[in-house]
Amino acid sequence: IPNHYQGTLDRILIPGGLIKDRIERLAQDIVRDFSSEGMVALCVLKGGYKFFTDLLDRIKQMNSHMERPLPLAVDFIRLRSYVDDQSSGKIEVIGGDSLENLKGKNVLIVEDIVDTGRTMERLLDHLKQFECKMVKVASLCVKRTVRRTAIVGYRPDYTAFELPDEFIVGYALDYNEMYRDLNHVCVVNEVGKKKYAVQK
Ligand code: PRP
Ligand code: MN
Ligand code: MG
Repeated sequence: IPNHYQGTLDRILIPGGLIKDRIERLAQDIVRDFSSEGMVALCVLKGGYKFFTDLLDRIKQMNSHMERPLPLAVDFIRLRSYVDDQSSGKIEVIGGDSLENLKGKNVLIVEDIVDTGRTMERLLDHLKQFECKMVKVASLCVKRTVRRTAIVGYRPDYTAFELPDEFIVGYALDYNEMYRDLNHVCVVNEVGKKKYAVQK
């Protein structure tokens, strides 16, 4: 844990090494399911960038050993709804690529976390207009909460970790833009929440 975050974290929930191991297995599942038809990996910024790069690195490594590799293209979309540890409920598309070229493609959405599921619900709805051939979702984490089941009841196609209902940061997950520069997934404590709060 870097010095500037000392005292603001409750504990390490998922060490970076374990994340790498799980990604290895997910990559195998994904490559098998998408076969050799090709895939557009759509990164949901900002939180998705670490999982996205590590997952794609694994798939690229596998590709270099395969007789029929999986052709890969990448796209980016930027969505945001969280202020402090609460979803504002207003999910904004605030940038990214033009997604016109997703038409007829097999798309894999790569996201860091599905909590209430609202962001993913909004994104899947947003993607409908682009007429993809297939859309699947890989999320590093899913929160084990009644909220999600109550609100949209959504489950991703590929998930690395199911997590308890605590506010987590690190490995590109943020609290008001802090903690993305942590290698592990951690639970932020009350000191951290106060220190970096926007809404006072
Ligand atoms: C976070 C996270 C997911 C979403 C999950 O993004 O990265 O995209 O919230 O929450 P939900 O299932 O309750 O909708 P955020 O809005 O914080 O933007 P960021 O990725 O730029 O941090
Ligand atoms: Mn996000
Ligand atoms: Mg965030």
